[in-house]
Amino acid sequence: MKTMNSYMEEAEEVILHTYNRFPVVFERGDGVYLEDTQGKKYLDFAAGIAVFALGYHYPGYDAALKNQIDKIIHTSNLYYNVPMGEAAKKLAACSGMDKVFFTNSGTEAIEGAIKAARKYAYTKDGCTDHEIIAMNHSFHGRSIGALSVTGNPHYQEAFKPLMGGVKFADFNDLESVKAQITGKTCAIIMETVQGEGGIYPADKDFLEGVKAICEEKDILLILDEIQCGMGRTGKMFAWQDYGVKPDIMTCAKALGCGVPVGAFILNEKTAGNSLVPGDHGTTYGGNPFACAAVSKVFDIFENDHIIDHVNEIAPYLEEKLDQLVEKYDFLDTRRGKGMMQGLVVKGHPVGDIVKKSLKNGLIVISAGSDVLRLVPPLVIEREHVDEMIGKLETVLEEV
Ligand SMILES: Cc1ncc(COP(=O)(O)O)c(C=O)c1O
Repeated sequence: MKTMNSYMEEAEEVILHTYNRFPVVFERGDGVYLEDTQGKKYLDFAAGIAVFALGYHYPGYDAALKNQIDKIIHTSNLYYNVPMGEAAKKLAACSGMDKVFFTNSGTEAIEGAIKAARKYAYTKDGCTDHEIIAMNHSFHGRSIGALSVTGNPHYQEAFKPLMGGVKFADFNDLESVKAQITGKTCAIIMETVQGEGGIYPADKDFLEGVKAICEEKDILLILDEIQCGMGRTGKMFAWQDYGVKPDIMTCAKALGCGVPVGAFILNEKTAGNSLVPGDHGTTYGGNPFACAAVSKVFDIFENDHIIDHVNEIAPYLEEKLDQLVEKYDFLDTRRGKGMMQGLVVKGHPVGDIVKKSLKNGLIVISAGSDVLRLVPPLVIEREHVDEMIGKLETVLEEV
C-alpha cells in the first residue's frame, strides 16, 4: 500500500506551497467521520472549514448529484438551466431576499457584492470615488478585492496596492464605524459572526446601530454569511437572529455542502439599481451541477429539520465546552453561536492542540492567533459531542 508520506511528497513536488498542510491524506468520508489512506478514522469537527453541514454522504445528496451528472453538468450563462432557477428560488425564500447571483466560491461572492455596492452608488450620483467600510480582524477572501476588505494587515502587506476606498473600523464598536463614515461611503461590510478572526459574534446593539446608520444615509449593509450562514448559528442565516436584514448577503461553503458554489444575494432596492447585463459574469456561476447540489441542500434542510437539530444539540455542545473551560486554566473562555464555537487558549500554542488532536483522531482547527475553532457538521449527535470531548480531553491533559 502506498504510504501517506509518498502521497504527500508527490503532491509537494507539483502543488504550489501556499499551505502548511497537516501530514494526513484523506481518502473518504462517512457521516461525521473521515478516513485517511491508511484506514485510520477521524471524528470531524471542522467539516472542511464549515462546508460539510450535512456530513459525508447524507441520504439523498449523492443521488441528486449523480442524477444531475446523468442529465447535464454545464451549459453556460448564455442559456437558462433548470437547477439554477430552483436553487435561486429556495435561497431567496430562505433569506427573504430577492435576487441571486451564483458564484464559484465565497471570495467571488464578495467580489460581486463589492461591485454591486459600487454600482448602486454610481447609479445614484455618477461618482467613481465611493468608499467601503470594513472591519478589523475580518476575513472575506484572498483575491485583490476581497483582500482589500479583509482587516488583516499581515495578509495584505505584500500585495499592495490593493483596491482603494476602503476604511477599517472596529467590529462591535459603533463609534468607530461612525468615525469612518463620509459622504462617499457606499457600503459597510462585515461577517455577522467573525470566523477566521477568532469567532466573534456581532453584538445586537452594534448590528442594529450599523443598520440604522445605513438606512439613514442610504449606505448598503453587506453581511458576509459565508462561514456563519446555512444554519450554523441556529438560524438559516445568522442575521435572522438579530432582526437586521442586509441589503446584500454573501453565502458559500455549506451552500453546496461540498460542491464549490457561492452566491451574493441582493434585496430589491439594490438589485433594481445596480448590476445590469454586461456588468458582471462568470462562466461557471449557476452551473446546473452546483445548483443541483444547492437545491438538494435546501430540500434536506427543510425536510429533515436540520436547523431544529442544531438548536437541539448546540446547547449540549456549549455546556460540554463550558465544562472544559472551567476545568482547564489555559482555556480562557468559550465564544460562539450554535455550531460555530471557539475556545480561547492562553499560554499554549493552539496549533499544538490542533496537531495533537489530529494524531488522536479528532479534527479541529484554529481561528485567529489563540482560538480553537469547532465548526462540526450540523448533523452531529450528543454521542459525537461526547466523543469529541473525550478525545480533546486526552490532548488537553497532555498539554
Ligand atoms: C467569512 C468568510 N468570507 C469569505 C471567505 C472566502 O471564501 P472562499 O474560501 O470560498 O473563497 C471565507 C473563507 O474562509 C470566510 O470564512
